[in-house]
Amino acid sequence: CVLGLDVGTSGCKILALSDTGEILQSVVEEYPCYTLREGWSEQDPEDWWKGVRNGLKRILPLLGGKEICAVGFSGQMHGMVTLDENLQVVRRAILWNDQRTGKQCDEITEAAGGLERLLDITNNRMLTGYTGGKILWMKENEPENYNKTRFILNPKDYIRFKLSGEIATDVSDASGTGLFNVKERRWATDLIRKIGLDPDIFPKVVESTDAVGHVSREAAGLTGIPEGTVVAGGGGDAVISTTGLGLIKPGRIGITLGTSGVAAMGLPAFLPNPDGMLQVFCGNAPGSYNAMGVTLSAAGAYQWFRGALGEYELEKAKQTGKSAFRLLDEKAAAVPPGADGLIFLPYLTGERAPINDPNAKGAFLGLTSRHSKGHFARAVLEGVAFSLKQVYDLIMGGNMDIVSDEIVLAGGGANSPLWRQIFADVFNLPVRTVYGSAEGGSFGAALAAGVTAGIWKNLEETVPLIKPESKTLPVPENVPLYQEQYQKYTKFYGALKWSFK
Ligand code: XUL
Repeated sequence: CVLGLDVGTSGCKILALSDTGEILQSVVEEYPCYTLREGWSEQDPEDWWKGVRNGLKRILPLLGGKEICAVGFSGQMHGMVTLDENLQVVRRAILWNDQRTGKQCDEITEAAGGLERLLDITNNRMLTGYTGGKILWMKENEPENYNKTRFILNPKDYIRFKLSGEIATDVSDASGTGLFNVKERRWATDLIRKIGLDPDIFPKVVESTDAVGHVSREAAGLTGIPEGTVVAGGGGDAVISTTGLGLIKPGRIGITLGTSGVAAMGLPAFLPNPDGMLQVFCGNAPGSYNAMGVTLSAAGAYQWFRGALGEYELEKAKQTGKSAFRLLDEKAAAVPPGADGLIFLPYLTGERAPINDPNAKGAFLGLTSRHSKGHFARAVLEGVAFSLKQVYDLIMGGNMDIVSDEIVLAGGGANSPLWRQIFADVFNLPVRTVYGSAEGGSFGAALAAGVTAGIWKNLEETVPLIKPESKTLPVPENVPLYQEQYQKYTKFYGALKWSFK
């Protein structure tokens, strides 16, 4: 079998996949996120490593002594992990949903010679979530930490380093630094120099299916994975989740509802990103690419709602063993589609796509005295679907002019039949789930590691393993209703923008 490790934001997931493509087991270990100031978001890499070790302790005994041929990786993208010359962590990782680097992003764009020139070099805007601005922020605000930093890694790369001692990243995750020449699959060394950073802090770059090294004796002792097991390149979660949905060719779009919501599509060749409104990154198959847009708060918005207003459901979940999310779904399902006019903007941690505004704020609009908690819950689910519909329109219309015949919904949020129905109605398209789609990046990571181990010749060979599961059709009478709500929704950001500081 092969293992797929996903270093997510709410927790890490470890999945074991058989040589014939069946999911044998999967476990999750949660860890905290630190929000020291509004707009800041950090995690301790040691918490990831502890989570992975604990998860491995739980999963390995369940595998009945099956041989592990390779370990694959997926992880939240854009997290800045800093290692000193003794390969110790310098400071907490600054995460993908952190918004502190507006000034540094402007500086980088200017140093490149303006947005157009930056897009020529990296094919992507420098967004506040990306690693490039964070390194510059550290240099300007914490020079002692910058001076100590010998290597910058992405989150999943830290776990591979702990397992194998190898310092490396892969092309998809490197793309998310904003300092990578995506077209040529190499660091944008000139740009890195121009902004005053040392190119040597960036690790070597591999392809996702490359073998990078082997589990060390020490890590074998700590984790139970046999010494010498191959560790693979892996990929950034948003990209490798798309690979795990079998979407390696253009046409069908995948939407992953994790903390963030990612609408993404695989591309067999490089695609220019002329206005930079999309993220176009290297894909997991050598020579492939991936076009996507990210709504920062997706299942994260529902999670916020559960924490802020779901005390009763959380308590009831404890008593009944049911999920608090499904209890909230029951309330949301009891109110009509469109939540009687209540509309939610999901910009709880700023927004990246379809609007790029780190200062954007969430909102409920259209509130009346008729609205109940169920309306709020439903409005949250609908608002996230509207946001991803805008991203979808951007990907489909703007650059490629492709028509999708269905969407594949994935990630934890895809477990909700109500949310699947809302997506089908808002998009007016059938919504599919596929084998492994609730597993997020860990499934794609395991498939890619299977290619590394030689179980499958290439990623294309893994596509037939990803069988269709549920299919949700749009309810015809809901479609015009949602179209009307969507039109309103798309106008609210522009009207409220002045108040977001
Ligand atoms: C992708 C992105 C998010 C994180 C979340 O660009 O920012 O999907 O990777 O895990």
